[in-house]
Amino acid sequence: MSEIESVSAVEILDSRGRPTLLAICRLADGVTGLASVPSGASTGANEAMELRDGDPKRHGGLGCLKAVANINGEINDTLAGRDFESQADLDRFLIELDGTANKRRLGANAILGTSLAFCRAQAAQRRRPLYAHLAQTAGVSPRLPLPMINLFSGGAHAGGQVAVQDVQIVVPAASTIRQILEVTSDVFRAATGLVSDRYQMRLLTADEGGLAPPFESSEAMLQAAVESIEVAGYRPGLDVDLTVDVAASQFYADGSYHFDGAELDTSGMIEKIAGWAGRYPLVSVEDGLDEADWKGWQSLVKRLADQTMILGDDLLCTNPARIERAIASQAANSLLLKVNQIGTLTEALAALHLARDAGWQVVVSARSGETEDDWLADLATGWAGDYIKVGSVTQSERLAKYNRLLILEATTDLKLTTLPTTLV
Ligand code: PGA
Ligand code: ZN
Repeated sequence: MSEIESVSAVEILDSRGRPTLLAICRLADGVTGLASVPSGASTGANEAMELRDGDPKRHGGLGCLKAVANINGEINDTLAGRDFESQADLDRFLIELDGTANKRRLGANAILGTSLAFCRAQAAQRRRPLYAHLAQTAGVSPRLPLPMINLFSGGAHAGGQVAVQDVQIVVPAASTIRQILEVTSDVFRAATGLVSDRYQMRLLTADEGGLAPPFESSEAMLQAAVESIEVAGYRPGLDVDLTVDVAASQFYADGSYHFDGAELDTSGMIEKIAGWAGRYPLVSVEDGLDEADWKGWQSLVKRLADQTMILGDDLLCTNPARIERAIASQAANSLLLKVNQIGTLTEALAALHLARDAGWQVVVSARSGETEDDWLADLATGWAGDYIKVGSVTQSERLAKYNRLLILEATTDLKLTTLPTTLV
């Protein structure tokens, strides 16, 4: 049993300079767990609600003092002195205490902070590394995930110069995280050179640290990625593959996709994506269509699921009910898992199990607004994500996670995941 002595919180700033919160959970036997909460920019309409102050006098209304006060006040008052057997017990208690479907009363940020800080405290109490504790409570064999690393950005992460939000690379045949990061650094350096030659600019980086020059089109990003891989001395489609986060909900309005100056219907958008899949080594297409275009997603799966992951982010929102619907209707074949979309570790774990039972692949993902906290690396490892998606190999809020993976690789027997051969 883990008796909570106190929970508290502090408003801190994330990688965009916006407020978020750090939660602290102290157990009665003296151990403490700390965890900070990330925040998205291209958020799905069905995400749990992070509570922001809405006070225009502080941080443009984005302050988190109400959520902090909820932890320091009601959550602490209710939890202090209570015993919890497991993470699931605590999370169930928090969900009932909040009492709303989307956690808007206490705030998903307040609830997730408490959930994560308790997890860290319990890991410390049981003298286990965080990844091992997460693996044990989930009933999963831990392994290191394959990084899906951001190279170029557009969309909501880069001022909208082109529609597509992120182009990422994966290094499928590597056997270690260290080797993957070496290859990625080579490609990133080549991309930096390409951007400065072609667009006469030095590094202007987007929210997740990717390069964001004024590309003439979304496809120019994919083309530049292939060229960067080649310039770095690797073979596109063999040594290095591409993935794309289209984030289509961001440019869908009034019944059409407003894509790089064109207006496309669902089948036009699917044709566009199928064209990329034919011309580029794409192993994953995330949010290729709008979060409410369920029929379109079914067509996308029929058209491309044998070639590439059809990865649901905004469509699924790490929400078990939405994942069940997508499995039943074959509207996706893989899950992007972000715990702050649903608000507790236990609900995110239910999402993971649903995806696994359906034979889906799982990408454990950071948000565009991150902190230097590294718990995501332990989560992706402990829950044996196929991939981890953290952003580029620049900026310390991203590197905190990659560096944690390097440390786990060097200090444990954990092995890198091996992907199904159809995707390698
Ligand atoms: P977000 O973006 O954190 O801004 O929502 C990440 C993503 O869309 O995957
Ligand atoms: Zn996304």
